[in-house]
Amino acid sequence: MDVPALEVRGAVKVFESRPLLPRLWPRRQAQPAKRVVAVDDVSLRVERGEIFGLLGANGSGKSTLIRLLSTLLIPDAGSVRVFGHDVVAAEMQVKRLINRVSVEAAFFKKLSPMENLLYAARLYGLDIATARTQIVVILGQLGIREQRITEPLEKMSRGMQQKVAIARALLTSPVLLLLDEPTTGLDPRSKREVQQFVLDLRARHDATVVLTSHDMDEADRLCDRIAVIDRGRIIADDTPAGLKRLVAPDGHASLEDVFMKLTGKSLTDSDAVEDDDEVPEPAAIG
Ligand SMILES: Nc1ncnc2c1ncn2[C@@H]1O[C@H](COP(=O)(O)OP(=O)(O)OP(=O)(O)O)[C@@H](O)[C@H]1O
Ligand SMILES: [Mg+2]
Repeated sequence: MDVPALEVRGAVKVFESRPLLPRLWPRRQAQPAKRVVAVDDVSLRVERGEIFGLLGANGSGKSTLIRLLSTLLIPDAGSVRVFGHDVVAAEMQVKRLINRVSVEAAFFKKLSPMENLLYAARLYGLDIATARTQIVVILGQLGIREQRITEPLEKMSRGMQQKVAIARALLTSPVLLLLDEPTTGLDPRSKREVQQFVLDLRARHDATVVLTSHDMDEADRLCDRIAVIDRGRIIADDTPAGLKRLVAPDGHASLEDVFMKLTGKSLTDSDAVEDDDEVPEPAAIG
């Protein structure tokens, strides 16, 4: 069998946050550090050419897992391999094979997509003339017309900016593309365009895609396989049809039903409180 695009075995990531400014509250000094097991013994395998979804509520560990896959974080235990290369031992090889797009994609907002992408091309040591041609082609495939390519990014909608972020990731021709909530906050039309683009990507660029989402319909539409993640653990990993059969033998169920049955909560509800990021997480004990 071919070497998988991604193989995760028993990955663990724990965050410990010490109480802030203990000197101001001397009595609190004895408090133990808060410990959050963000990724808890996760194992998964993604084959080349698959679109694989990570579905989970806020704080379930999706972004942390994506960061482990992209060498931004080092696992506390377990292993992650990208096309057979260990993310810790062979970080540079892995970096050449992957690219990550997240909601907090950093751009120079006063500069145009072309300028931003050329900047990235220089960072990656790409040939600038080739990159320039490629940028027009990639942005064109994303439905961004040539005249917009030289306008400041800040004039573009969030959907457009998200597409530019994906375009930047494609410049380096990653074989494994990690998309952390590629369509969150986009209007329905931009959402559709980005989704269609992800499907085209696999077809045209022979890419493997791992994406995270809160959106059941999106996961259903795009993903060959979906892992449901809850409090850092993968609690199901199957095709959308296979997941639906978990709740209804005839397969007549929605992914929302599946999520409800598996986690006891609704993903739609957790979306509604998405803006309440300031609310402290319930302390993870044990
Ligand atoms: N750098 C960090 N330091 C401390 N705790 C962290 C850090 N990053 C994440 N966490 C915690 O780890 C848990 C998982 O967070 P993560 O961002 O991976 O979730 P998520 O599934 O991506 O959530 P969302 O849907 O809101 O993006 C949360 O409890 C979060 O507070
Ligand atoms: Mg996240």
